[in-house]
Amino acid sequence: MLNEIPIFSGLNDAELEKLEKVAVVKTFPKNTILFSEGDQSDSFYVVLSGKVNVGINDEEGREVILSILGEGEYFGEMALLDGEPRSAFVMTKEPTQLLIISKKDFESFVETNPDIIINVLKGLLKRLREANKKIESLALMNVYGRVARLLTQLSVTRDDKTMIEDKLTHQEIANMVGASREMVSRVLKELSDEGYISIRKKKITLHGKLPYEW
Ligand code: CMP
Repeated sequence: MLNEIPIFSGLNDAELEKLEKVAVVKTFPKNTILFSEGDQSDSFYVVLSGKVNVGINDEEGREVILSILGEGEYFGEMALLDGEPRSAFVMTKEPTQLLIISKKDFESFVETNPDIIINVLKGLLKRLREANKKIESLALMNVYGRVARLLTQLSVTRDDKTMIEDKLTHQEIANMVGASREMVSRVLKELSDEGYISIRKKKITLHGKLPYEW
């Protein structure tokens, strides 16, 4: 199981076996807060199945979703590696099975397997590139463009059908593009009226390339 997880690629069987001994597998129901922004860190997590939202709240309860992480992805590495508090909250979006490694075991594992750090670095670079794109959309695009780009990024094409496999609420989309739910509903309606998308049971299908500029 562990050899299919990209961050552990490069580890040999003996190392994977050692890892399996110190890791704990736990399943959490939907909407469980795994930790909050500012918490002290004690673990590193890998998503074995399910999905989690990574995000930030302000005092008024407004929320920004930075990313949705799914099978094979990991989180919690930042605070473990730089010793700072958690940079974001993480909450399950659906029932989720996680592999959990304690800070102490993660640190000693990294010491003996420096390849892991290269994998973590690659992951951080990927997230930095995505964050740059997000900054670009926030600074340079209107809400129509941001929604269109987000839907395009989240979509997958299978058997000639391009769709977003996760169910997304208007509020979740709003929290991902930094806009109000009302504005997102208006944009989705317009995209749907123009024939660019169709929505059934909260699942969105894309019909061709969505316009980023309106
Ligand atoms: P940590 O700061 O320990 O706790 C929150 C985690 O969320 C963080 O480690 C990363 O694993 C993850 N995270 C933070 N920012 C992002 C982002 N922009 N994209 C994806 N994951 C993130």
